[in-house]
Amino acid sequence: MPRVISVTGQKGGIGKTTSTVHIASRLADMGFKTCIIDFDTTQSNATRSVIGPIWEGPEKVRGICDVMANGGSLDEVFYATHRENLFIIPSEKKDARGANYNIEALLNQLGLEGFNLLKELIEESQELSSCHFVLIDNAPSLGITTVSSLLAADYFIIPVQTSDLSMESIGDTITAGLKVKKMQNPYLEPLGFFVASMDKRPKMAKKAVVELGELSEKTGIHFFETMIPISSKFGFLPRDKKTIYDITKTSERGHREYLALVDEILEQIKEIETNETQNESQGHNHKTARREV
Ligand SMILES: Nc1ncnc2c1ncn2[C@@H]1O[C@H](COP(=O)(O)OP(=O)(O)O)[C@@H](O)[C@H]1O
Ligand SMILES: [Mg+2]
Repeated sequence: MPRVISVTGQKGGIGKTTSTVHIASRLADMGFKTCIIDFDTTQSNATRSVIGPIWEGPEKVRGICDVMANGGSLDEVFYATHRENLFIIPSEKKDARGANYNIEALLNQLGLEGFNLLKELIEESQELSSCHFVLIDNAPSLGITTVSSLLAADYFIIPVQTSDLSMESIGDTITAGLKVKKMQNPYLEPLGFFVASMDKRPKMAKKAVVELGELSEKTGIHFFETMIPISSKFGFLPRDKKTIYDITKTSERGHREYLALVDEILEQIKEIETNETQNESQGHNHKTARREV
């Protein structure tokens, strides 16, 4: 079974989609079979960044919305990308008649079933079960789509932008994740939060790092050492369906840090799972048991 990582954050524009695409692409480049699920179904920016705006072409390409609304399996909407080992379950935004999907409303209508729909679809997918990693990109909210993504996940990770407002919202995102863990998904583990675009002003950056360190101490949630700097290059990537790895050298800003961030994520996963294995040998129930189911 794959490790499912939900990239969450209450606010828009904090780097969820950019980091989902860059973490997933790096994992793919390292040889891990990796799939992105674009679950920000109103914006579909991950889809746009990886395979382009599939809803604009003359041929209707099916995605996760059609499967959720009309039934079927995620295997039917599991697409290869131009990157080896990287796959995507896209969000197609519009239905066959050109009307926008409203997945939030659809899941709400389904009630309890709606909360669990993504989890069930992931668990039933043969293609996803053959992946090492699945990364879910989420809408900028803590609504039903994000909660259902946390229900389906083994881990959640929170990108942070070092502006005051987003600092405030991280606390809410952590609380939401921990609530889902406590009430519904005991297998969910917080991987931590990381700076996805670091303020260029040294004073602001320093203040943000101190505050994030304090938040980490208070909540016990890991604060990643690696911080992604601001680089104007990120802005042009989605249009060209490229990543920072495709257009810069390994040593360049942004590229270098994303490589280090993924190493740190893998270390963090290893540490959590080693602890779990130790707990298991002491008789505790845990995630690897679920993975074998
Ligand atoms: N490190 C960075 N430096 C500069 N711009 C960035 C960086 N990370 C993301 N961006 C840009 O910020 C904007 C918002 O990022 P995005 O990943 O779409 O956020 P979200 O998915 O949280 O809404 C995008 O235009 C993106 O290209
Ligand atoms: Mg986004």
